[in-house]
Amino acid sequence: MAFNTITAKEAAEMINNGDTVGLSGFTAPGTPKFISEELAKKAEREHEAGRPFKINLFTGASTSDHVDGVLSRANAYNMRAPYQNVPDLRKRINSHDCHYFDRHLSEMAQEMRYGTYGPIDVAIIEAADINDKGEIVLGCGMGNVPTFAAMAKKIFIELNDKLPHALLGMHDVYMPLDPPYRREIPIFAANDRIGSPILKVDPAKIAGIVRTSSYDCVKPFTAPDEVSKQIGSNVVRFLVSEYKAGRLPKEFLPLQSGVGNVANAVLYDLGESKELPNFMMYTEVIQDAVLDLLQKGKCTFASTCSMTFTDETEQKLFSDLSFFHDKILMRPAEISNNPEVIRRIGVIAMNTALEADLFGSVNSTHVLGTKMMNGIGGSGDFTRNAYLSIFSCPSISKGGLISNIVPMVAHPDHSEHSVDILITDQGIADLRHKDPVERAHEIINNCAHPIYRPLLNDYLKLGAGGQTPHTLHAAFAFHNAFNETGDMRNADYAKYV
Ligand code: COA
Repeated sequence: MAFNTITAKEAAEMINNGDTVGLSGFTAPGTPKFISEELAKKAEREHEAGRPFKINLFTGASTSDHVDGVLSRANAYNMRAPYQNVPDLRKRINSHDCHYFDRHLSEMAQEMRYGTYGPIDVAIIEAADINDKGEIVLGCGMGNVPTFAAMAKKIFIELNDKLPHALLGMHDVYMPLDPPYRREIPIFAANDRIGSPILKVDPAKIAGIVRTSSYDCVKPFTAPDEVSKQIGSNVVRFLVSEYKAGRLPKEFLPLQSGVGNVANAVLYDLGESKELPNFMMYTEVIQDAVLDLLQKGKCTFASTCSMTFTDETEQKLFSDLSFFHDKILMRPAEISNNPEVIRRIGVIAMNTALEADLFGSVNSTHVLGTKMMNGIGGSGDFTRNAYLSIFSCPSISKGGLISNIVPMVAHPDHSEHSVDILITDQGIADLRHKDPVERAHEIINNCAHPIYRPLLNDYLKLGAGGQTPHTLHAAFAFHNAFNETGDMRNADYAKYV
């Protein structure tokens, strides 16, 4: 091979304080895991020597402890975007040790190209294979790697021997032109291929190859609890009723599914449903449940940005790659989450909320309105443009100390204008073509936990006028009660008059 083989430590030595770094991948899969560990050690050494060392890190989405964990603990981030889900980084973000830009995932790559984040000094790319011409077979997640590779001044490759070369053909590398030259993204069905199976980079920019060996280290799921199962069965019940009523076409429509245990439980339930036809997915991540659905033929094709499989499922995929090869296509985040495509092909979006309010607005990102949880991820890309947008969450959290249905969300990520259906373990609220007060009754009666229904009804009776009858001094009574007493049931609407 024409390129120098170097160690992860040598690569880290070539990354400097203040550098802007872009990583391939989306969630843990496809994300390089070794240079970041050495970079964290370098940051610690530099800090001990009294010298500053922080980088700006851009990714496709979340990473893993090998990146966001170690680098946060080493206090090595100046800026981080567009999404994360690691507790140590969350702490840094919420204490302002790290400037975090929470962005719609479909927008990150184009914003980099538009120049709003400045130049990219280094791209680190995980690869299954590379040849002397700089043609790369990527790993199990793509993210924003085409843009990072095109813009970076130098590139390091982590060549991972756990990744089979036969991943060749499972990627669809495509970078749209920027305005005013952009044309339509020519995807008319979830399984349309539009780009190249390989990522081509300028070989002159490759500063070294680091040989690695690791699966993607995605955390195993906890078995679905009763609440998740109930939510899953309500989502399926809703989709079946829509399908039977003829409000979904007989061919059905591609599904997008969010991340986490509830999303995984919903997909398992969909797989069991005899009343729904086979379907395709147009989504940003596929989790373990989807491999199962592909195997059973219930899901016939998955367009994704990443195969976010636990190590066990990843090994299952690799051992039977020829079966799955033409059933999964990985695309860059700006294509997997592309608003134009989502609207055109009629994606049914299913995402998870932290809290929703009586009028249908959703908070996906900020615990009690102030503390960043993860980020908006792709939920905005899909929700705003979907054929049908569903949000689900448990009706209560922390054993009932928190109601996930509140008078007014303390941080609005998705407005009432984009949310069609709200589903909890209690039931289904169909918010379409209902005025704000009708929506509030639908949500209280069908989605709120019974222990919170009287308090929520009392809020509506406070007598505020207007089309959306918020009583502003009382709108955050639930959140104030939790902050002051640890229990939202102590909400007192009169207290802040
Ligand atoms: N207020 C305070 N805390 C809350 C809360 C609320 N309204 N709702 C949930 N929590 C707490 C839970 O108690 C739990 O705490 P714990 O970790 O101490 O047990 C924690 O928040 C996570 O709750 P859980 O119900 O397990 O959430 P989840 O794993 O289903 O994730 C989101 C929910 C919203 C955080 C997650 O889906 C997310 O990050 N979404 C935004 C990005 C996105 O939608 N991506 C997909 C697009 S394709």
